[in-house]
Amino acid sequence: MSLQYINMVKILEEIEESALIQLVYTSSLTVISRFNNSLFNEVKSHARVYNAQHGITGILCYGNGHFLQCIEGEKANVLALHQRISSDKRHKNVKVLLLREIDQRNFVDWRMRLLFLERWLWSPATKEQATQLSSFLPFVPHAWEPEHTEKFLQTIKTFETAPHIKAAGITYSAFANMFRHIIGPHQAFLVVQGILSLLILVAILLLFL
Ligand SMILES: Cc1cc2nc3c(=O)[nH]c(=O)nc-3n(C[C@H](O)[C@H](O)[C@H](O)COP(=O)(O)O)c2cc1C
Repeated sequence: MSLQYINMVKILEEIEESALIQLVYTSSLTVISRFNNSLFNEVKSHARVYNAQHGITGILCYGNGHFLQCIEGEKANVLALHQRISSDKRHKNVKVLLLREIDQRNFVDWRMRLLFLERWLWSPATKEQATQLSSFLPFVPHAWEPEHTEKFLQTIKTFETAPHIKAAGITYSAFANMFRHIIGPHQAFLVVQGILSLLILVAILLLFL
């Protein structure tokens, strides 16, 4: 039994069943899921229905192969969802960063907005907020202390615009997104290199045939 689990039990014992709670956890995408190009859409569409039915609100962040999700709602509902999410085989190393009773919700959206913590996935609106996010990058939330997690939540809470990329961009898998954004800016260079290599090949062939 991990210390983390014992701590969670202790905290939960002191919270009434009908109370509003906030649970923040982090996890990592499995290697296979990095190639799943519908993962983000699958999670979002499931969350949209389930969370609305169970009064759950929050935000889901992704970057650098890691998730950080904040879920808020009635104690029983939040714990039930956390149980389902923890047994989801698409991610691993689920670690609770924050668990506490709250007076009011920090995130009122049950659609589970997606915030990407990778610079190349940022919308122009997020780029404007980049200086506020820089102390949380590169995104490695497993190492975060509760205070840092709290600071992160307070920072993203102030974002007025939906800080995610347009829906079309999420149709790539995590791996494809990385590949696309590394290759993308170097397209012209790669085309010129390709043509030059082809010309050299033709010249060599002409020389020896
Ligand atoms: C990072 C991550 C976050 C998720 N967040 C939610 C969520 O907020 N709400 C939800 O209903 N499902 C969420 N899911 C999906 C659940 O883990 C699970 O697939 C879903 O509840 C279906 O469970 P079932 O197959 O047991 O019915 C999430 C999955 C992942 C990987």
